[in-house]
Amino acid sequence: MNAAPLGVFDSGVGGISVLREIRRLLPREDLVYYADSGHCPYGGKTREQIQARAVAITEFLMARGAKLIVVACNTATIAAVEHLRATYPIPFVGMEPAVKPAVAQTRSGVVGVLATGAALAGDKFHKLVADHARDVRIITQPCPGLVEQVEAGLLDAPETRALVERYTAPLLQQGADVMVLGCTHYPFLRPLIQDVTGKGVSLIDTGAAVARQAQRLLEREGLASDAERVGCIEWHSSGDAAQLERLRPLLMGET
Ligand code: DGL
Repeated sequence: MNAAPLGVFDSGVGGISVLREIRRLLPREDLVYYADSGHCPYGGKTREQIQARAVAITEFLMARGAKLIVVACNTATIAAVEHLRATYPIPFVGMEPAVKPAVAQTRSGVVGVLATGAALAGDKFHKLVADHARDVRIITQPCPGLVEQVEAGLLDAPETRALVERYTAPLLQQGADVMVLGCTHYPFLRPLIQDVTGKGVSLIDTGAAVARQAQRLLEREGLASDAERVGCIEWHSSGDAAQLERLRPLLMGET
């Protein structure tokens, strides 16, 4: 089992922002990445639709031998991770917008959360805010269109900048000094978002924390790889495989 791969999936290429952190922290693990780009975005789908996709992908990854699955998508985690944990015998690592660290960091007392509409609408997100917001004001901002720009590889196109300006403006006006990148596609837009918000705003995402949680679970369950070599990465897409192949080096930060 220790030689088995980790499965990682997202509605598209966004989860690569998590995959690259896993690769950095756990270089000996083999990884199987599934981009559900044929069904992207999840942001406008119902909970039932997202859950059905999460189930189909989990079964695919388990058939590839996955010993643990990282749901590298905030929207799919909110809609489906509890169901996955209750249904399948392997461990799952989910992710959620980084509200807790953002609350710890803000000095202005105002935090903005950029995420998909579906992620912000879930009970799980409301509970996250109720549990951690304390006296901090949390302003949520759905960002339709941003995921599509990342899927197209348009990380600093004028239309992408215009969307980022539109979505961050109300948060800046209300005094947010910390913004949570609550969708795994958004870390690829970090340089653009930072340019628009200015250096006075901290941007937080959870890719590195999720990689550490995967490491903890592997160690706790005795599943960590004992291979002496660097692991390989297998890539799958339900959409345009050539597009994934084109974007992969850019998003993995490879030259
Ligand atoms: N990358 C996803 C997330 O973290 C979902 C984007 C989408 O498909 O709407 O929420």
